[in-house]
Amino acid sequence: MSNRMWGGRFAEGPDAIMEEINASIDFDQKLYKQDITGSKAHVRMLAANGIVSAQDAETIEGGLDKILAEIEAGEFKFSRALEDIHMNIEARLAELIGPAAGRLHTARSRNDQVATDFRLWVRESVDNLIVQLGELMQVLSAKAETHAADVMPGFTHLQSAQPVTFGHHMLAYVEMFARDRSRLKDARARMNECPLGSAALAGTSFPIDREMTAKALGFDRPMANSLDGVSDRDFVLEALSDASICAMHLSRLAEEIVIWCSAQFNFVKLSDKFSTGSSIMPQKKNPDAAELIRAKTGRIYGALNALLVMMKGLPLTYSKDMQEDKEQAFDALPNLSLALAAMTGMVRDLEPNTKVLKKAAGCGYATATDLADWCVRVLGMPFRDAHHVTGSLVKLAVERNVELHRLSLADMQSVEPQITVDVYNVLSVDKSVRSRVSYGGTSPVNVRKQSRRWLRQLEKEQA
Ligand code: ARG
Repeated sequence: MSNRMWGGRFAEGPDAIMEEINASIDFDQKLYKQDITGSKAHVRMLAANGIVSAQDAETIEGGLDKILAEIEAGEFKFSRALEDIHMNIEARLAELIGPAAGRLHTARSRNDQVATDFRLWVRESVDNLIVQLGELMQVLSAKAETHAADVMPGFTHLQSAQPVTFGHHMLAYVEMFARDRSRLKDARARMNECPLGSAALAGTSFPIDREMTAKALGFDRPMANSLDGVSDRDFVLEALSDASICAMHLSRLAEEIVIWCSAQFNFVKLSDKFSTGSSIMPQKKNPDAAELIRAKTGRIYGALNALLVMMKGLPLTYSKDMQEDKEQAFDALPNLSLALAAMTGMVRDLEPNTKVLKKAAGCGYATATDLADWCVRVLGMPFRDAHHVTGSLVKLAVERNVELHRLSLADMQSVEPQITVDVYNVLSVDKSVRSRVSYGGTSPVNVRKQSRRWLRQLEKEQA
């Protein structure tokens, strides 16, 4: 049997393999709600403009509501022979209400229909991610405020560099996630134009009102070019680009958490709620959530890459290639959402081991820059000379196998005779972080100010 939606010119039905490669219903049934919402907006507009009768429109809307209820109750039978969600719903509508169902597709094509449905789905996912990022920023800012004055080692090259505060480290991620959120908001604003009414590609001769459907579906305006409307997928590419950058940030934090909770570092404690045990090694408490967050980055980048490659060779307008856009986004965006939820829970429960962090902050001559700065400030040396003197002092400390603040004054003066006992004041990690008061620096005063600023702002956004 040929397809009842488009089989007029066909004598035979599709080969089983044709059906298998062609059908998208196994995955695009996820769009049922968007499809029904879009159809209702469309038919209402058709009636308002005298393109279908008010009576038919009412019957169609009633049928669509019934289908929605059937799908949500798990009673709807999806059929591969009907290819996709659009035709599955329309075929059921015909069963339910008879010939009036055939009027729904007036002045519309599956091309503008799918572009609209998918945009609605991506927009909703982006909205959820924006909310979730706010929640993650909130727990990070709260951690930052609590640990504004707790010192930890700051690293470059994963080598001890300078002491920083744990709060400052948390706030670095708040800034990154704030930019991720702002990117998603930008993408949302750009994607919020309605393709419906582009029809197959050229628009339609029916007197449709695209402003009306755009408004009904929460879009700012209809898309201005019908060819563009049915053929671009930049809205999902942009969402996936933003998702990829966000996943990268999440992955870096996840990687730090994995390192921090190893026994050798022992910088933080994860809650039992966000760790797992080993079936053979009873002592183990593994940071699986962090590892999985790190791992999910791969599939999110993969989705972006797959879609970029899928789109790059397509002449305008619609090609069936575009059907492949959905599974990628259906996988990537919910996985990012899950990763955000897991990170938020993990950070909320995370306890820094402040004693260990403080001890580690002083290791590896982390206050050497403070010593060099002291020579500049107190002895009036040029920074390059001070750097050289400090380097010699570090070398001496390495030979003596002691930390910088354990070098005797005599040893210090053997390198630079002008050094006085006052120098020991800058060699403690607490003094070091407290002195970093430059804007954006790690001092507890700064961290308190910034974390409170974020907490206030995030709270205001909620109100
Ligand atoms: N299932 C199709 C997709 O996801 C719907 C659009 C089909 N359009 C067409 N001209 N065959 O892209």
